[in-house]
Amino acid sequence: MSAINGLSALEIDGSAARPMIDPFQRAITYLRVSVTDRCDFRCVYCMSEHMTFLPKADVLSLEELDRLCSAFVAKGVTKLRLTGGEPLVRRGIMTLVASLARHLESGALKELTLTTNGSQLSRYAAELKSHGVERINVSLDTLNADRFRAITRWGELDKVMAGIDAAQSAGLKVKINAVALKGVNEDELADMLAWAHGRGMDLTVIEVMPLGDVDESRLDQYLPLSMVRSRLSERYTLEDIDYRTGGPARYVRVKETGGRLGFITPMTHNFCESCNRVRLTCTGTLYMCLGQEDAADLRAALRSSESDGPVVDAIRDAITRKPKGHDFIIDRRRGRPSVGRHMSVTGG
Ligand SMILES: C[S@@+](CC[C@H](N)C(=O)[O-])C[C@H]1O[C@@H](n2cnc3c(N)ncnc32)[C@H](O)[C@@H]1O
Ligand code: SF4
Repeated sequence: MSAINGLSALEIDGSAARPMIDPFQRAITYLRVSVTDRCDFRCVYCMSEHMTFLPKADVLSLEELDRLCSAFVAKGVTKLRLTGGEPLVRRGIMTLVASLARHLESGALKELTLTTNGSQLSRYAAELKSHGVERINVSLDTLNADRFRAITRWGELDKVMAGIDAAQSAGLKVKINAVALKGVNEDELADMLAWAHGRGMDLTVIEVMPLGDVDESRLDQYLPLSMVRSRLSERYTLEDIDYRTGGPARYVRVKETGGRLGFITPMTHNFCESCNRVRLTCTGTLYMCLGQEDAADLRAALRSSESDGPVVDAIRDAITRKPKGHDFIIDRRRGRPSVGRHMSVTGG
């Protein structure tokens, strides 16, 4: 794949790239890229059973994704996360990973990582590691095969477990992300914690967010993490720690296991003050906030010129519009999601 056009070597040298600063003085150093809106699962909180996906013609090619990611790197982004949909079902995804690895080699990028449902990890774990990926997030909400099938509608737990084994054998550090679901996995989170920490993996629990129409009511799914925490405290000693990854998770150390447990609480706490990220969809739309509608069309800028000048201008302009924060609401009076697009579109 080609190096980025219209940007000098100095600009793509990490030491030269100063991060973009938004109107609230936050440095934007983290880009999450949804490389596809498609997925081999249909998780009940993420998608409806019969999803309509974007026409393939609207989706950026791998070369275009590379160009856009590289333009962000040139503008001071030091962390890139590939997500989706399921990033590992995008055809040719390893070509993109291999190509982006050049920014790790140059030092411009500090981390290249991905969030995956794990279904394809057995196949790709070693290759990811060979391209410089060090850590990955695997989403897993239960250790029970029947429940797993009920939550994901289409998934097989065995495959994901084999994927996690493969990732750890390849030397990838794995963090497990679990969405806390009322009446579904709330009784299991303590066991999941023991399992994850027993295998040297951190665990982060996430509150359901009202993104996109799914077939179930959000109110039925939503479980505040304050309740999860108090329940876990019955079995474990949770010690607040200062550990931060620059993201929304707040961590505790679990005394009995020595492992870390994270909480992502978009519904009960606002974590926007320290937000350092923006999100790119697979059609080249940039969302400056997961929970707001404002967006910038980078595809038009990208396709308007062989040079990256227009796209860099569009990125710069978009960052000046990054909002202060989101305002998610789940309540009975509100019959529609706070944000119409699904997490799989914006990139979770
Ligand atoms: C959209 S998925 C994309 C990557 C990959 N398919 C996976 O599942 O890890 C990223 C994360 O978003 C979470 N997620 C999806 N919809 C959500 C929602 N409505 N509220 C909270 N988390 C959600 C998933 O559990 C997953 O951890
Ligand atoms: S959470 Fe991930 S695995 Fe589940 S349906 Fe959404 S994109 Fe697919």
